[in-house]
Amino acid sequence: MSVDPNSLTRIPKHVALIMDGNGRWAQERGLPRIEGHKEGAQSVRALLRAAKQAGVEYLTVYAFSTENWKRPPQEIDGLMKLLIDSLNQYEEELHANQIRLRVMGQFERLPLPVRIRLQKAIDATAHYEGHTFIVALSYGSRTEIADAAKQIAEKVKSGELDPGKIDEQTVSEHLYLPDVPDPELLIRTSGELRLSNFMLWQLSYAEFYITDTFWPDFREEQFFEALEAFNGRDRRYGGVKGE
Ligand code: FPP
Repeated sequence: MSVDPNSLTRIPKHVALIMDGNGRWAQERGLPRIEGHKEGAQSVRALLRAAKQAGVEYLTVYAFSTENWKRPPQEIDGLMKLLIDSLNQYEEELHANQIRLRVMGQFERLPLPVRIRLQKAIDATAHYEGHTFIVALSYGSRTEIADAAKQIAEKVKSGELDPGKIDEQTVSEHLYLPDVPDPELLIRTSGELRLSNFMLWQLSYAEFYITDTFWPDFREEQFFEALEAFNGRDRRYGGVKGE
């Protein structure tokens, strides 16, 4: 029976998603890899609605990693074009559900038409409060942390910051989206047990939900199942049960 998200007592405020298995989904059907990505883009669209319905405030998807630049140029090109096409569809969804779009990663490394299309959607949805959709693009967590270290070092050098006062909060404040709370739930599709350089700092206390389902088959129902699994977990942050 499918899960009713309204029956769940604990909903994570922020859910992060590693969308894996598009290529294998396509391969199983004898289709080119890009067809898997296209179907995967439809899963993202479905989850925008589902997350809002369930009351998840932040939904972050790992759409393109810094490592993904090593893929064949034809696939990179296909993904960038798909991103532009998808944004045309997503924007309708974002407005219909009053969701704000944000981007996390090396924005300047993206092709100009992608940046222009993204900026338009970012600006058009900037006034929505309450629900946020974050797309990680050209994102790598180690680079993000190294960049934070650089900024902190600059502040120390200029005398703005006392090295003795640097703590976890200082690092968090210098990451790409310092105002966004850490994800409480990480979902990874297609059964891989890796973090793949995704939000290493922010996921320190997150619950992990790994499913064998390929990303293009991961829709509302599967998302609600993941939320149900989270609902049943006992989160202690290193403390003792009941405290
Ligand atoms: C992993 O599948 C998926 C990606 C590298 C890209 C994710 C992109 C999308 C879901 C489509 C577009 C997204 C947006 C936001 C428009 P894979 O190719 O690594 O699959 P495999 O491991 O089976 O080869």
